[in-house]
Amino acid sequence: MHKDLKEILISPEELEAGIKKLGGRISKDYAGRCVTLVGVLKGCILFMSDLAKNISLDTRMDFMMLSSYSGAHSTGVVRILLDLKESIEDCDVLIIEDIVDSGLTMEYMLQNLKTRRPRSLEICTLLDKPTRRRANIPIKYTGFTIEDKFVVGYGLDYNGIYRNLPYIGELKESAIEIRK
Ligand code: IMP
Ligand code: MG
Repeated sequence: MHKDLKEILISPEELEAGIKKLGGRISKDYAGRCVTLVGVLKGCILFMSDLAKNISLDTRMDFMMLSSYSGAHSTGVVRILLDLKESIEDCDVLIIEDIVDSGLTMEYMLQNLKTRRPRSLEICTLLDKPTRRRANIPIKYTGFTIEDKFVVGYGLDYNGIYRNLPYIGELKESAIEIRK
């Protein structure tokens, strides 16, 4: 375990099993269709690549980068830093997110992508932290529901660090100070 972590909350094996299940559900639900996976950078990278390998359908992949966070606290202000490359008109779009916390980022994404007239639009998140929800958004696919802890690893960062860890862990208070 990384020295900056208090504990591991989700092991690599648990991640693998959970993502396999999600991939199976998605493959069933969208059978016969092509799914457009819209990853929210940068947190989605490890999750999206493992999830995609567990989806037995044709897929397209595109990405957006938004900013809503600085450090460990949500500002609630969302900006598009990088937009989709392709049109999603008439596509079955699945947003791939690392974690839904306040829900403000996903609320913005849903509103924004809806205006582009996709055939369907759903959210798939690796982690759900429902205790701090401020926007009531529909989440179709959730990998794991967690308590209100600041977590890193498997794509999730604190000030850019820890994304490469193969597990999800809770960050120590001391690391939050040092890595600020
Ligand atoms: P929301 O708009 O509050 O739902 O925030 C969503 C974004 O905040 C996620 O995409 C993450 O990038 C970031 N975030 C929220 N909670 C955590 C956490 O515990 N660790 C790392 N990033 C987080
Ligand atoms: Mg994110």
